[in-house]
Amino acid sequence: MSFPKDFAWGAATASYQIEGSPTADGKGLSVWDEFVEREGKIWQGQDGKVACDHYRRWEEDVDLMAEMGLKAYRLSLSWSRILPDGVGAMNEPGLAFYDKLVDRLLEKEIAPWITLFHWDLPLALHRKGGWLNPEISNWFADYAKVVVDRLSDRVQHWFTINEPQVLLDHGYLCGRHAPGDTNSFGSVMQMGHNILLSHGKATAVIKGRAKKTPICGWAPVGSAARAETNSEADIEAARKATFSVDTANLNVWNTAWWADPVFLGKYPEEAYEQYGALAPKIAPGDMEIIHTKPDFYGANIYTSTRVRAGANGEPEWIPHPDGVPLNTYDWAVTPDSIYWAGKFFYERYGKPIVITENGIPIVEWVGRNGRVRDPQRSEFISTYLLGIERVMKEGIPFEGYFYWSLMDNFEWQWGYKQRFGLIYVDFETGKRTLKDSAYHFKKIIESDGAYIHEMV
Ligand code: BGC
Repeated sequence: MSFPKDFAWGAATASYQIEGSPTADGKGLSVWDEFVEREGKIWQGQDGKVACDHYRRWEEDVDLMAEMGLKAYRLSLSWSRILPDGVGAMNEPGLAFYDKLVDRLLEKEIAPWITLFHWDLPLALHRKGGWLNPEISNWFADYAKVVVDRLSDRVQHWFTINEPQVLLDHGYLCGRHAPGDTNSFGSVMQMGHNILLSHGKATAVIKGRAKKTPICGWAPVGSAARAETNSEADIEAARKATFSVDTANLNVWNTAWWADPVFLGKYPEEAYEQYGALAPKIAPGDMEIIHTKPDFYGANIYTSTRVRAGANGEPEWIPHPDGVPLNTYDWAVTPDSIYWAGKFFYERYGKPIVITENGIPIVEWVGRNGRVRDPQRSEFISTYLLGIERVMKEGIPFEGYFYWSLMDNFEWQWGYKQRFGLIYVDFETGKRTLKDSAYHFKKIIESDGAYIHEMV
């Protein structure tokens, strides 16, 4: 079975992780520009001031994407490059950067899939209360207007926000990401509600103003559970685990709290009640704004938990098998994650699936022959894609797969320690080298997916 002809074979990046040039051409600061200056926050005191220097080397980067045969590129825009204060005056050179990037991508027949927000909140807005300020969804919608008015004659695919879960947990609960806050759980839940409202209002802007018929989504963490066996009981337990909300432990790691409002128009009722006073306040009309029913279900999936039916049929989480392969982050390599997640997400939300991020950091370097041999990554990509093929055979529509990441980049609090890219970046010189996996991915793309069956 082959993948659909118009399948979006792509790779993804995020502005702060690759661009560098934090103050060039009138750019305003983001919370990340400020956070990396703080002592002890980033591994070895690294920062994203240069990163991949993509702001200056973007043409070369698009050429490399073309060489790899990518059909789509998921990029995020830096809000404070476009609106230095987050609101108000627009910075023409900032927007012009994305404008010419979009043109160049289209020239190379690579579809730009734009994410409006991948964590680099304008610092000026953070100082006004950021996600806790009730105005934030209006600020976000105004920012969306500026972008959509300029780019929607050429851009068709839109994401509003990347991973509310990681944003809130790392940025606002544990403080290991910018802005480094440690808020109460109740206020984080209210921020979460404001994030959902921001998603809703920006989606309305995109749908209402885009010149090219838009295809809208967002990219939450795709927390998934995989069934230990194919027994009905285990499958049901994994399904239940995939949509469970862990209200007892006051964390944001789940799917349903975030996706139900957007796709089904309501928070999971039981969880909402259990949170009691910690649950966000919902003003009249909020849920209608949030209930955008995106055109696809976007999910960032790297790994999954392992679940079987316990004695009473309830989900029982079990450890990964002894010796499970781990990446350099210690995340388990679990190729069937996308199969189970795709199946469960489609059953509940009824929308075609797009894998908006999937990738692996490994130990690798440029060899004496100038090549980066990374067979584990090639095998990773092929076997995760086998999961997509398997679930498509069951009639579940899949529209795209974005490898994370196009190139090695600034991996947040870990600086340059973790390499996820298809392109190796020498951070001393900026030199790029296509890894073996980039050529592997190219063959997969050229064969409409058939090459996933070849041995690495
Ligand atoms: C994020 C990326 C990040 C990747 C690997 C995702 O959570 O969207 O920005 O680099 O995971 O950690």
